[in-house]
Amino acid sequence: MVTHFIIKGISEFPELQLPIFLLVLLIYLTALGGNLTILLLVCLDRHLHTPMYFFLGNLSFLDMSSTTVTLQNPLVKFIAGHVGVSFHACMAQVYLFASITTQELLILTAMGYDRYVAICNPLRYHMVMSRNTCALLAIACWTLGFLQIIPPVFILSSFSCYRSNEVNHFFCDMVPLMRLTCSDTSLLEILNLTEGLILSTLTPFLLTFVSYVFIISSIAKIPSGVGRRKAFYTCSSHLTVVILLYLILVCQYITPLSGRFLDTNKLFSLFNTAAIPMLNPIIYSLKNKDVKSALRRRMKKLRIPS
Ligand SMILES: *[C@@H]1O[C@H](CO)[C@@H](O)[C@H](O)[C@H]1NC(C)=O
Repeated sequence: MVTHFIIKGISEFPELQLPIFLLVLLIYLTALGGNLTILLLVCLDRHLHTPMYFFLGNLSFLDMSSTTVTLQNPLVKFIAGHVGVSFHACMAQVYLFASITTQELLILTAMGYDRYVAICNPLRYHMVMSRNTCALLAIACWTLGFLQIIPPVFILSSFSCYRSNEVNHFFCDMVPLMRLTCSDTSLLEILNLTEGLILSTLTPFLLTFVSYVFIISSIAKIPSGVGRRKAFYTCSSHLTVVILLYLILVCQYITPLSGRFLDTNKLFSLFNTAAIPMLNPIIYSLKNKDVKSALRRRMKKLRIPS
């Protein structure tokens, strides 16, 4: 019976502790700062009060939460020397990380639908993507993300037999914990495959893919080159984030690094969990005129020279 887990962290080499701490701190602060900026801009700037930016605000909030869940352990480890998490706190980390990941995929799917309506059905855009619809879509994404992971985490938390309480990862995640238990994991594996892979990864992927098939075929029909470029521009940031996120997910599934041989390269896994939260705001602020000019307006208001 385990009452608490020891999080082994990214590396146990003493010489690497300081560089890892600095790297994680840098990633965390970049992700937090960038996403907080986006969230504040979306809330404060009236020009950004459109469905796409509301969803972007949701995404930033999720990014901030996910980096806080995953990166707190390596930071605490350096300061306190070791990380011990109670059984319940560990399950909470598993639960939060898995639900946030699904919620991000669902919000990105909703953003894909928003782009689809904006490009394929521009005349009815304001009617289809009304305030209520957006709020409903957002609530659905959040609720689904929180609900779908209850059964697997419930099963995981019912395991009482563990070979060791040393989690060979830098936060409590499903797979490293499954590797520690001596209880029967077959039901959990089936659930992870059907629910985790098919329901909460492949379904959002297919929905987003279908949105983009319609978007691209509709853009291709625009006669003028300028019009085509303009239409494509409105979804380029979203498309970049989507492609990046699914590429990383595919890498996670097919590379042995993060899957079967977890110990070999946790830095890679760190990159996986931190890359998207860090890159989202950068992609959106570099590629997006609306966000850039909103930022400039804010800085002018605060008398910060830009
Ligand atoms: C999330 O999106 C909904 C619907 O567009 C919006 O009402 C809400 O304010 C957003 N929440 C955050 C934290 O951005």
